[in-house]
Amino acid sequence: MEPSIVFSLLFLLLAPTCGYVQEGFISGVISNKGLDYAKELLIEKGIASVVMLQLPEIENSAQVPFVGNAKVVLSDITIKGVQVNSSSVKTGESGVVVAVSGATANLSMRWRYSVSSWLIPIGISDSGNASVEVTGMQVGLTVNLRNQEGSLKLTLLDYGCYVGDLSIKLDGGASWLYQLLVNAFEGNIASAVEEAISEKIREGIVNLDNSLQSIPKQISLDKTSALNVSFVGNPVLSNSSIAIAINGLFTEKNEALVSQRYPKGLKISSACGGLPKMIKLSIHENVFKSASLVYYNAGKMQFIIDELPDQAILNTAEWRFIVPQLYKRYPNDDMQIHISVSSPPVVQVTYQHVGATIVVDITINVLEDGEVIPVACISVEVSALCAVEIVGNNIAGRLRLQNFSTYLKWSKIGKLHMNLIQSLMSSVLKTVILPYLNFKLNRGFPLPIIGGFSFQNANILYTQPWIAVCSDVLLLEDYHLGRHSAYVS
Ligand SMILES: *[C@@H]1O[C@H](CO)[C@@H](O)[C@H](O)[C@H]1NC(C)=O
Ligand SMILES: *[C@@H]1O[C@H](CO)[C@@H](O)[C@H](O)[C@H]1NC(C)=O
Ligand SMILES: *[C@@H]1O[C@H](CO)[C@@H](O)[C@H](O)[C@H]1NC(C)=O
Ligand SMILES: *[C@@H]1O[C@H](CO)[C@@H](O)[C@H](O)[C@H]1NC(C)=O
Ligand SMILES: *[C@@H]1O[C@H](CO)[C@@H](O)[C@H](O)[C@H]1NC(C)=O
Ligand SMILES: *[C@@H]1O[C@H](CO)[C@@H](O)[C@H](O)[C@H]1NC(C)=O
Repeated sequence: MEPSIVFSLLFLLLAPTCGYVQEGFISGVISNKGLDYAKELLIEKGIASVVMLQLPEIENSAQVPFVGNAKVVLSDITIKGVQVNSSSVKTGESGVVVAVSGATANLSMRWRYSVSSWLIPIGISDSGNASVEVTGMQVGLTVNLRNQEGSLKLTLLDYGCYVGDLSIKLDGGASWLYQLLVNAFEGNIASAVEEAISEKIREGIVNLDNSLQSIPKQISLDKTSALNVSFVGNPVLSNSSIAIAINGLFTEKNEALVSQRYPKGLKISSACGGLPKMIKLSIHENVFKSASLVYYNAGKMQFIIDELPDQAILNTAEWRFIVPQLYKRYPNDDMQIHISVSSPPVVQVTYQHVGATIVVDITINVLEDGEVIPVACISVEVSALCAVEIVGNNIAGRLRLQNFSTYLKWSKIGKLHMNLIQSLMSSVLKTVILPYLNFKLNRGFPLPIIGGFSFQNANILYTQPWIAVCSDVLLLEDYHLGRHSAYVS
């Protein structure tokens, strides 16, 4: 199996459901519905991995009445197709059990025999094709998941394949051959199928485990930050779900953030407000706080505006009637606005929305003879509401201005009218700062975990201090290799 697919599958398998305690700031729960989907994908991939699989040659000899000692070789034994009638996935404290029952498989093979006996001095031989139909096949496996130093370790606890019935159809050949095949080879063919499928299961799980081990413990988001996706605690398996948790905090690139302790005993609900969704991702408000801190500390929360749709605003001439002192000292000079967030924005998840409080210093600069001269600084405290949305596989936000308050920090051009500042700031906030922040927020950051999958019909729930994304997921077409009832003829 392609590692990336396996990886995604696994992740799906890992996702968990009722109230449970986790110690990460991002937690994922895979519901029964999600587990069912993961199981279907696993079976699909499993079938794709055995179709066209060639089993080892089988050789046998037997004494055939009136014919003599026949040596028969079955070769090119190939699994042509597998059909699964019913399957199930169950989770319990001891692991995840996937079972397939009543599966059928078609095989093709070649036979050849040679007979030598004193009765027939000239050896006779013949060859031809045959097909085999296997029915009532049962396949099962049990895996367990543990946290191993921040990675997930997948262990195969038990697995097997059992062939119920087998029928052979011979193209040509003598009737004694048919009887011989049935008598002497049925068991061999059945165990060859059982062994081959069991081996594929073992291989598949080893590959899945390798893919899990190779998941990076941190996802680089941009030049400034990375998301710590180390697993914390062991997956919690209940009879209806699997829950996993990752650290989930933003860290500054190449620099370990002072590890934030997880509040003890914080319970996460696995309910999706009655919606039957495959997964639920819960994100603690500390994730947003850590993002705010990282970007603030990295000095990323400041920018300069020297271009506006209405460029005239950025010239002192435009202000000569409103702020005459400014025009008097710097006639016809260009201006720029330096915006700098002066403390890490405070982010809070409530029961209805995400609230953000941002304090910005807005400094007005005048450009005179190539020199940047700060002339006034206004501090603005902005309260905004953030609506969270899922855009593709990213979690994004849209800020809406709630209210703001301003005060003049300092001025080199004398007193400014507060009314004037209020209305000026209102327009700067609405036309410049919020659109700019929304442009940044609109891209959001990628939700960890699901590679190759896309969210479908995601709902956002606010449950202080968590935001939950309840969603179905779909494996993208590119990742679909082979269909469920692959049959190659
Ligand atoms: C498939 O399963 C159903 C019940 O689960 C059973 O009635 C049916 O006979 C099975 N079909 C085959 C081909 O095994
Ligand atoms: C096996 O082949 C037979 C006839 O060729 C077909 O009817 C049956 O559906 C096939 N079964 C599978 C599992 O592909
Ligand atoms: C047996 O099958 C092979 C392909 O699988 C084919 O080339 C060959 O002609 C067949 N032989 C007979 C005797 O049908
Ligand atoms: C799962 O376990 C809970 C109690 O732990 C029980 O009430 C519930 O019926 C079980 N559900 C299933 C489907 O077994
Ligand atoms: C990432 O999270 C793990 C688990 O909480 C923690 O042990 C590790 O120190 C964190 N790494 C960084 C770089 O903060
Ligand atoms: C906005 O209004 C809320 C209550 O309506 C108040 O708590 C908050 O301090 C105000 N924010 C600002 C920046 O004035």
